[in-house]
Amino acid sequence: MHKVIFDTDPGVDDAMALLFLHHHPEIDLLGINTVFGNATIETTTRNALFLKREWKIDAPVAQGAGETFLPHRVSHEPPAWIHGDDGLGNIGVPDVPDMSADPRPAHRFLIEMIRANPGEVTVVAVGRMTNLANALKEDPEIVGLVKEIVIMGGAFDCNGNVTPAAEANIHGDPEAADIVMTAKWPVVVVGLDVTMKTVMTRSQLADIRDAAGSSRARLLFDLSQFYIDFYEGLVDDGMVVHDSCACVYVVAPELFKTRSGPIRVVCGGIADGQTIQKPDGRGFGPSEWDGDLPSQKICVDIDADAVLKLIHDVISAVKED
Ligand code: BDR
Ligand code: CA
Repeated sequence: MHKVIFDTDPGVDDAMALLFLHHHPEIDLLGINTVFGNATIETTTRNALFLKREWKIDAPVAQGAGETFLPHRVSHEPPAWIHGDDGLGNIGVPDVPDMSADPRPAHRFLIEMIRANPGEVTVVAVGRMTNLANALKEDPEIVGLVKEIVIMGGAFDCNGNVTPAAEANIHGDPEAADIVMTAKWPVVVVGLDVTMKTVMTRSQLADIRDAAGSSRARLLFDLSQFYIDFYEGLVDDGMVVHDSCACVYVVAPELFKTRSGPIRVVCGGIADGQTIQKPDGRGFGPSEWDGDLPSQKICVDIDADAVLKLIHDVISAVKED
């Protein structure tokens, strides 16, 4: 069993990833942490509570950061043109007054769960890294107590998706990402290098809806349509399943090819939020990648067909509501 805390900004592809984690038989979902990004923190938290209710997820939701790690950093508007004004594809997400978040802020929830399960917790972070950076600031010792941090974010040997240099989750809080990726805990980064190859077609998504025959899969299908329309012209047909790729890594790392080396995040300037790895074994002159930095893994290739099949099989296997 993998004990997982899901740190997320739902978010359409976040929603699919959450359903995958919830349905996977080897995942024990300990908690859902929210962060601002695809929408404001109030909206991503409301969405997490809504999905928890609709999908009957036991794990608590803890509300996280609503601003960057450095409080006065220039912040960016939520990408309503990708995820909708409501963050879930403009399906008209209702308020959920019957649901409430955990009293703890997400970074403290993270610390307490990691300390309660030493060496066992995998954090899957598919939004900005702000909650993780806040947790490290409050309790630096957790670096030695975590099993693994799996991140969806970054663009290493390819362009970003917000600027030519930067991917959205990193661009939204570069200082937080640099802290998280240079901390001495094991990090695996699943970036655009592999997620952009992982496109679920409209008909594959319809197959999931029909195979599952459940209201859960119907909701996933409905909330994904606006996001699919956004991706028209960017990919052949369908939706890029960024966040689900990070979840699949947890249960099937053999479907990914990785490269090791220290990672730094550019903070400021025209390449704000760019992620750069110094591959282990490569010689360079003295640089900011030297010193006591840990070697972290980035994904450089993926068996996209197998990943998509696994997502399909896990989500559609559950038939009851
Ligand atoms: C990432 O940014 C968000 O829009 C998605 O949910 C994903 O986590 C892709 O760059
Ligand atoms: Ca996300």
